[in-house]
Amino acid sequence: MTSNASRFTEDTVFVTGAGAGIGRAIAERCAAEGATVVVTDVDTEGGEETVARIEDAGGDAAFHELDVTDREAFGAVVETTAERHGLDAIVNNAGIAPDNAFVEDVDADTLERVLDVNVRGVWNGCQAALPVFKEQGSGAIVNISSLGGILGLPKQGPYTLSKGAVLNFTRTVAAEAGYHGVRANAVCPGFVETQMGEAHFEHADDPAAARERMEREYPLQRLGYPEEVASAVAFLASDDASYVTGHGLVVDGGYSVS
Ligand code: NAI
Repeated sequence: MTSNASRFTEDTVFVTGAGAGIGRAIAERCAAEGATVVVTDVDTEGGEETVARIEDAGGDAAFHELDVTDREAFGAVVETTAERHGLDAIVNNAGIAPDNAFVEDVDADTLERVLDVNVRGVWNGCQAALPVFKEQGSGAIVNISSLGGILGLPKQGPYTLSKGAVLNFTRTVAAEAGYHGVRANAVCPGFVETQMGEAHFEHADDPAAARERMEREYPLQRLGYPEEVASAVAFLASDDASYVTGHGLVVDGGYSVS
């Protein structure tokens, strides 16, 4: 890991969906750089494990169980965080990707659930953090979109609908909140090695062959690691990105330009 130990000293970074995968890597990266990290997730066991890993590494973290679709609960946890620790950055990472069907075959419940978690969850996070950030005249929002936010991906209709929304909504937040010293950016990862990534191959007749085919489609000839998304997020959340706002940072091993 790149050492940049002081980048978040005295900062508090709030991460949703931090009990696994990319969210855990973001939490660990920010803690390694000096942040107090507020780890949130619906999965208590995963969230507590993230906190334990951070503490074992000498970092500082606290866990709050939080379903990002619950607007009231989100507001309450953000308020408590701001009172207890202050709040310098929020990473709206929690997301789901259950799609594997053509648009005409997606049922209403699946669509609703994806939009609820991926879109409403990001909305709730921004809505909860913005008053705090605006009042203090500073703050960074990083929303996790996806390649699915900029490319068409067959059999991922609800997911691409949600991630496109996240990307463009982030631009609106940047345009509104910049006047108050608040930045908002998105990260658009390509395929990343997490539970979510693995689940994608389960539908294939030959998962190993499907994975190999996908790896070959990437100019860098491999899939991404959660830590590689985390370093992009840490950049955008930090003062290193003090003049970057409204941006969608693509972290995809070159897939989208090949
Ligand atoms: P993951 O499935 O490995 O982890 C997601 C975490 O979010 C889990 O801990 C889960 O409990 C939590 N979560 C799910 N629903 C939640 C809710 N309603 N409230 C709070 N927490 C909730 O997923 P992964 O791969 O780490 O993905 C993280 C983000 O990155 C997602 O937004 C995903 O769409 C995005 N992404 C992932 C890619 C990949 O290939 N893995 C590629 C591009 C974007």
